[in-house]
Amino acid sequence: MDIITSVKDMQQRSSAARAAGQRLSFVPTMGSLHQGHLSLLEEGRKRGDLLVLSIFVNPTQFGQGEDFADYPRALQRDSELAASVGVDIIFAPTAADMYPKGYATYVDVDGITENLCGASRPGHFRGVTTVVSKLFNIVQPDLAFFGNKDFQQLAVIRRMTSDLNVPVEIVGLPIFREADGLAMSSRNVYLTEEQRQEALVLSQSIAEAKRLAAAGESDCETIISKVTELISSQAETRIDYVQICHQLSLEEQKQVDNDSVILLAVFIGKTRLIDNSFF
Ligand code: PAJ
Repeated sequence: MDIITSVKDMQQRSSAARAAGQRLSFVPTMGSLHQGHLSLLEEGRKRGDLLVLSIFVNPTQFGQGEDFADYPRALQRDSELAASVGVDIIFAPTAADMYPKGYATYVDVDGITENLCGASRPGHFRGVTTVVSKLFNIVQPDLAFFGNKDFQQLAVIRRMTSDLNVPVEIVGLPIFREADGLAMSSRNVYLTEEQRQEALVLSQSIAEAKRLAAAGESDCETIISKVTELISSQAETRIDYVQICHQLSLEEQKQVDNDSVILLAVFIGKTRLIDNSFF
């Protein structure tokens, strides 16, 4: 497994692999790998000849007062995990190489970036779409793998890839969870033991929403108010949003149907966690 840190070297390596007829699988991450990331890499391994993992804590997608400085960084451990699932290349560029002096170009997706995380994290998706565009141009993958965990991010990247005719197939994969239901996240390490217990309310309240819908409740307001009540019963929780949206447009719905997805963002203490599910 090679670790490449220069943009130019990565681009040359990818160009050579493509010229040799190799199919490139790509998994972009911010590192601090967990089983959720590994599940994307495993799928990438199966579907491509050359598997590239990027690790880059992208400064442009963090807002003022967010956790850019604290975000966990663990390249040594990440390298071992990556090697264990058959990654061929880790691309770990520096911020100076990705955003050199004079950098001035950004990619903005309208519409579906405005609701949910876009509303509470202004500029976040602009940073995501910009860095993912750059990574696509550098790595030149045939396939790129993303998790449903960041449901809105995946929808935004699909929109961007389609709108800009980017020749990359976007593959979305299920949320990987801990045995007790907590969605895996690099941010889970911020939680104290008590907060880790409280965090279970995210997946539990989603399960309750699904139970209500399965029992015939289709009014979104009623389901959301039950979910809100459950989450608020935990001492350290603060709800950012609870919404039921159409899975493609991400517009809010009044009635649950086959295209609905429930999405949550909840602070547990200072840690902001997200989760979602289809019904
Ligand atoms: P990061 O949070 O490191 O996530 C990288 C990829 O792993 C994303 O596609 C995310 O949805 C997926 N992922 C995270 N937790 C998961 C889980 N529990 N199950 C399945 N997949 C999971 O998302 C980013 O990084 C960045 O915004 C990035 C796209 C790399 C751009 O900087």
